[in-house]
Amino acid sequence: RDDLYKRAAQILDINDRGHYTVPTSGLYPFQWNWDSCLVAIGQQHVDEARAWTELVTLFEHQWDDGMVPHIIFHKLDDGYFPGPEVWRTGRTVPTTGITQPPVAGFAANLLFERAKDKDLAREKAGHLLQRIDRWHEWFFRCRDPHGTGVVALIHPWESGRDNSIDWDAALDAVPTEGLEPYQRRDLQHAHADHRPTMAQYDRFISLVQHFRSLDWNNEVLHEQSPFKVVDPGFNAILIRSCNDLASLADALGEPEVAERNRARAKAGLAALDSLWDERLQQYVCFDRVSGKAVDSASVGGLLPVFAGVPTARMESLAKRITTLGEQVNYLVPSHDPTDSRYDGKRYWRGPAWLIINYMIANGLDRAGHTELFEKIRQASLKLIDESGFAEYYDPKSGEPLGGDTFTWTAAMVMEFLR
Ligand code: DGY
Repeated sequence: RDDLYKRAAQILDINDRGHYTVPTSGLYPFQWNWDSCLVAIGQQHVDEARAWTELVTLFEHQWDDGMVPHIIFHKLDDGYFPGPEVWRTGRTVPTTGITQPPVAGFAANLLFERAKDKDLAREKAGHLLQRIDRWHEWFFRCRDPHGTGVVALIHPWESGRDNSIDWDAALDAVPTEGLEPYQRRDLQHAHADHRPTMAQYDRFISLVQHFRSLDWNNEVLHEQSPFKVVDPGFNAILIRSCNDLASLADALGEPEVAERNRARAKAGLAALDSLWDERLQQYVCFDRVSGKAVDSASVGGLLPVFAGVPTARMESLAKRITTLGEQVNYLVPSHDPTDSRYDGKRYWRGPAWLIINYMIANGLDRAGHTELFEKIRQASLKLIDESGFAEYYDPKSGEPLGGDTFTWTAAMVMEFLR
């Protein structure tokens, strides 16, 4: 266990670029939004000041409208596609024009609560508080313009679960006319069978071209996007971050920020319940374009345990996860293995990811499901013991998949070893 911890610390170090961390060199050579926030949690075990820097750097690139972009292209690297020349968002330090799961509120509050250097924590958390609040405000203004209480994603990359079965039907409806020729670079770094398909990439890039033609104007993107899906997992993270930011605001003596964020979380939790699927006994996505619920039992529908849903829902989700544990050797698969569309090696269509395990385990633990928490923790550590610090893993065989020497996997190992 000591060796695992040392190796994890080494990986954080290898991928540290001074004021931000790359997920892994080669495949992902820039700063990714939710990677950074989750990585900071691991960095805190080694170097508290460095952990705060990770978040502060990310928020230096917040847009004027409040959005925090999904990638910051600090240094050019032609090993990645699509780079700044495709996004063309017009920023001095180039960024993409879409966002990613808002873990920052959760991460900042956790860093603050566990801080040993309280003065530093007050200073950094104080700096971040209003910025994270502005990001939350942006979500509800620009991604929930009709005030439903839950926000929609306009690109699968925003979910972080790029090629999930959740998006199949909605992506099929995305037009690809006018798609400019392009060359993928991810396949130089990872196995094609473990990555999204060409048909999916065509749609990913078509959406980018479409938003670019609208000048990345977030006041209109939601209304004019051919892809608009409400993801229970993404919303669960947002709800948790709103609640945690409220706690942080209380601790910093900012009652208005606290009140706003508690109200957002409360409305979010109430609206989340409309995504419950009785047959699957879990939450599912809702497609705002077709007006239909998405028939797909993905891990996005289990993540609401992280938000702290009502006890009856929590019990059902714990049962679902227990059942999944009987079908795989390593919890938690990103998709139900009994679904014919399940693919245990292809990115988000089946593989297990340590960051998801961490968030689910955290939610279960808080709700008193200690045994299941421990089962996920042990499965996660066993994966690393047997297969190293990969990007994701086949939940049946434990085979390491995607990139290796992976930063957020290392950060989560530190959390699980704590
Ligand atoms: C990629 O390039 O695969 C990333 O997941 C996009 O964020």
